[in-house]
Amino acid sequence: MSDAVTERLIDIGTERPVWNRFFTVAPLVLIGTTDADGSPDLAPKHMVTPMGWENYFGFVCTPAHCTCQNIQRRGGFTVSYPKPSQVLFSSLAASPRQDGHKPVLDYFTTFNGREVDAPLIEEAYLYFECRHHKTVDGFGSNCLITGEIIAAYAEPEFLRSSEIDDQELVHDSPLFAFLAPDRFATIEQSNAFPFPANMKQ
Ligand SMILES: Cc1cc2nc3c(=O)[nH]c(=O)nc-3n(C[C@H](O)[C@H](O)[C@H](O)COP(=O)(O)O)c2cc1C
Repeated sequence: MSDAVTERLIDIGTERPVWNRFFTVAPLVLIGTTDADGSPDLAPKHMVTPMGWENYFGFVCTPAHCTCQNIQRRGGFTVSYPKPSQVLFSSLAASPRQDGHKPVLDYFTTFNGREVDAPLIEEAYLYFECRHHKTVDGFGSNCLITGEIIAAYAEPEFLRSSEIDDQELVHDSPLFAFLAPDRFATIEQSNAFPFPANMKQ
C-alpha cells in the first residue's frame, strides 16, 4: 500500500471486536426451533450465509442460546426471511426469556414445518427447512451451525420468473437488509451486476 493511502486510513485496531465501528450489509432471518418442552422458539440472526452453491445454509450462534441447544437435540431448524414490514416482529423475537419462555412469541402467527418439527412465521417471503448438517465450534464464544436445506418455499411474487423483469420484481416486492450493527434498510431499487464475460461459478 502506498504511504498516501495508509496515511488516510484510520487504524480500527483489533484489541476489541471490530464490528461496531462501521456498517455492513447483512440479511436478517428468523431461525425456528423447538424447545425441550415442545414449545416453539424463534430467534433473529443476521450472521447468515449460503454454504456454497448447493443446498446448504449456515449461521453463527452461541452454544448458550436455546437455538443452538434445540438444534443439537432435535436435529433441525427452519429459516424465515421476513419482509421489511415485519421488522418489529423480527426484533422482538430476541426479547429475553421469562421462566424459560419468550412471552412475545405468543403474539406471533406461526405454522409448523413440513419436514422439520419447528415453527416458521406467517407473512415472510422465503422459507427453508434444514436438517442439521454440522456445527463448528471455536470462533471465540460462537459456533457456526450449518444445515442441509430439505424443503424450500416462497411467496409467488418474490420468485424470479420470465414474466417479470428482475428490477421490477425487487421494486414491487422489496427486500429487508440489516445494516449491522443497528440499522436496517428496505431495498426496492437494484441494478444488474456487471459480471465479467464467461465467468465461472
Ligand atoms: C437484529 C438482530 C440480529 C441478531 N443476530 C444474531 C446472530 O446472527 N447470531 C446470534 O447468535 N444472535 C443474534 N442475535 C441475538 C439472538 O437472536 C438473541 O439472543 C435470541 O434471543 C436468542 O434466542 P434463543 O436463546 O432462543 O436462541 C440477534 C438479535 C437481533 C435483534
